[in-house]
Amino acid sequence: MEQRFAGKSACVTGGGSGIGRAAAIAFAAEGARVLIADVDDAGGKETARLIAAHGGEASFLHADVSRAADVQAMVRFSVERYVRLDCAFNNAGIGGGRAPLADVAEETWDRVFAVNAKGVYLCMQQEIQQMLRQGGGGCIVNTASMAVFLASVETAVYTAAKWAVASLTRSAAKTYVDKGIRINAVCPGRTDTPLMYRGRPGVPPDQVLRQANDATPMGRVASVEEVAQAVLWLCSDAASYTAGHLLTVDGGQYL
Ligand SMILES: NC(=O)c1ccc[n+]([C@@H]2O[C@H](COP(=O)([O-])OP(=O)(O)OC[C@H]3O[C@@H](n4cnc5c(N)ncnc54)[C@H](O)[C@@H]3O)[C@@H](O)[C@H]2O)c1
Repeated sequence: MEQRFAGKSACVTGGGSGIGRAAAIAFAAEGARVLIADVDDAGGKETARLIAAHGGEASFLHADVSRAADVQAMVRFSVERYVRLDCAFNNAGIGGGRAPLADVAEETWDRVFAVNAKGVYLCMQQEIQQMLRQGGGGCIVNTASMAVFLASVETAVYTAAKWAVASLTRSAAKTYVDKGIRINAVCPGRTDTPLMYRGRPGVPPDQVLRQANDATPMGRVASVEEVAQAVLWLCSDAASYTAGHLLTVDGGQYL
């Protein structure tokens, strides 16, 4: 296996499940020392255990990305343990349920924006400050969604929060590109994670999967590994000239 991240450190939020877990495992498999941050302690510790079982180096820290104090502690912990912060994958996110906009509760807006949008702002703020303290250099990838490219009927608030992620990504990329900090976003389409099934409560999982496969031009949803590989590419030297990019990994959904 290539070791594109040997000697580097990576911080992955939402690393206790789905896309975040796959990215944490992939970073570690390519030599990175990985901090997994999540509100799900069992899931986060399990990701760290899986990495250690394959000879990799990983730690878990409980952190809620919507809380500034937790995010500060996350970046401090990463630097104390691994000296530098080279790569950050701001991926933690929640769904907002499905309802037409006029029926969405205010609490749903507040929670979805707190985690999906404010969380990315808080993480980037701390990560960029640390990367500047290190003398510049570093890669940040945020998880947006391919939903930002389509008008949404039932997930308007979730999509609006992901628009915020896309916009913050491009603004921050432009602001810090001359400091050697490359900031990009990955925009997954339907991906086989617990979030995809949670978004359709009451629908049997096999039906959710079948419908999602059928609705995707490639005829299948993404695996978490496919999204993780796009994230690693964006963080790798192979993407050395790429900044502010919104990379779709969506099986042709946005065509
Ligand atoms: N699965 C899809 O189809 C899909 C499509 C597009 C975008 N996304 C995005 O991908 C990202 C990862 O989602 P996933 O599909 O792997 O879902 P997932 O539910 O499997 O994983 C999300 C992880 O984030 C954690 N998390 C939630 N709130 C948090 C908080 N406040 N602080 C820290 N951690 C928190 C969860 O505990 C969980 O471990 C999300 O941002 C999601 O919006 C997913």
